[in-house]
Amino acid sequence: MASGLYTTNPPQNLHSLASSSSPKPQSFKSSVTVRCASIATSSPATNRWSLHGMSALVTGGTRGIGRAIVEELVCLGAKVHTCARNETELEESLRGWNRSGFQVDGSVCDVSDRAQRQNLMDTVSSLFHGKLHILVNNVGTNIRKPMVDFTPEEFSTLVSTNFESVFHLCQLAYPMLRATEAATVVSISSVSGFVSLKNMSVQSATKGAINQLTRNLACEWAKDNIRVNAVAPWYIKTSMVEQVLSNKDYLDEVYSVTPLGRLGEPKEVSSAVAFLCLPASSYITGQIICVDGGMSINGFSPRHD
Ligand SMILES: NC(=O)c1ccc[n+]([C@@H]2O[C@H](COP(=O)([O-])OP(=O)(O)OC[C@H]3O[C@@H](n4cnc5c(N)ncnc54)[C@H](OP(=O)(O)O)[C@@H]3O)[C@@H](O)[C@H]2O)c1
Repeated sequence: MASGLYTTNPPQNLHSLASSSSPKPQSFKSSVTVRCASIATSSPATNRWSLHGMSALVTGGTRGIGRAIVEELVCLGAKVHTCARNETELEESLRGWNRSGFQVDGSVCDVSDRAQRQNLMDTVSSLFHGKLHILVNNVGTNIRKPMVDFTPEEFSTLVSTNFESVFHLCQLAYPMLRATEAATVVSISSVSGFVSLKNMSVQSATKGAINQLTRNLACEWAKDNIRVNAVAPWYIKTSMVEQVLSNKDYLDEVYSVTPLGRLGEPKEVSSAVAFLCLPASSYITGQIICVDGGMSINGFSPRHD
C-alpha cells in the first residue's frame, strides 16, 4: 500500500449508529453528523436503492460536500476511500467514522499533483482489488478576482485542481471502472458552469469544462456500462464559502436570487450524488443536475411583489 494510507477498523454493527452519540452539526463546520436512518444490506441485484458491495473513491472527503458524500455512500452500503491534503484532519475524520462504524479508508493526497493522483489510484486499486464501482470527483477550489488580474500560477492552480484532476482521475480509474459490471462517475461542478458569476471567470471555465467532459465521457464509456454525470451546486454551507457569505449585504443578495430563499446544506448535494450512483438511476447518463434552490433557472422573481 502507498504511504499516507489510513484505514479504519472493520465496521461495527451499523444499526447501532442510530443511538450513538456524535458531535452536533455546526452550520459551516464539518463533523461526523450523519446517522444512517436505515442501512441497505441487500445486494444491488435485488435492491435498486442499495450500494451494498460497491467500492467508491470520493476525493476531498474531510469537509463540506465531500464529507457528506462519503457518509451518504457509506450509509447506503458502499466501501469508501477518500483523500485530502491535511493529514491531521484526515486522521481525525477517519477516527470519527471508525467510532461510528463507517467503513472508510483514506489517503493523504493533493489531487492537483499528477504523481500523487497516480499514487492514490494505485492505493485504490490495491484496496479494491482492481474494481471501482463509483468515482466521485469532489475536490474543487476558487480564486475570485477579475480575469485580467490572474497570475499564471493562480490560473494553473485552478485548472489543475478543478479540471485536470478530474480528467486524469477519470483516465486512471477507467480500467477499474470497466472491470465492474456497472460503474458511475459523478463530478461536482457548479452553477458557475452555466451562468456568469462575478469574478469567477476561471473557476467557471473549469466547471464548464467538467460539464462537457461529463457529456463526452457519458457517450464514450456507455459501451462499458459506465455512467457519467455531474452535480452543480449553488451556495452550500461549507468552509469554502464561509468567508464570502459572512458579508451580510452579499448574503442578502444571494438570498434574493435564490427562489428557495436560503443556502443549501451539504447533505442536499450528497443525496443527489448518491442517487446518481445507485442502480435506481441506471438510465441516467451525461446529465448535469443543478442543486441550487432554483437559482440557475431564475429569470425575474422579485421577493417583494
Ligand atoms: N460550497 C459551495 O457553495 C459550492 C458551490 C458550488 C460548487 N462547489 C463545489 O463543491 C466541491 C466541494 O466544495 P466544498 O465547498 O465542500 O469545499 P470545502 O468545504 O473547502 O472542502 C474541500 C475538501 O476537499 C479537500 N481538498 C481541497 N483541495 C484539495 C486538493 N487539492 N487535493 C485533495 N483534497 C483537497 C479538503 O481537504 P484539505 O484542505 O485537507 O485538502 C476538503 O476535504 C468543489 O468542487 C466546489 O467547487 C461548492
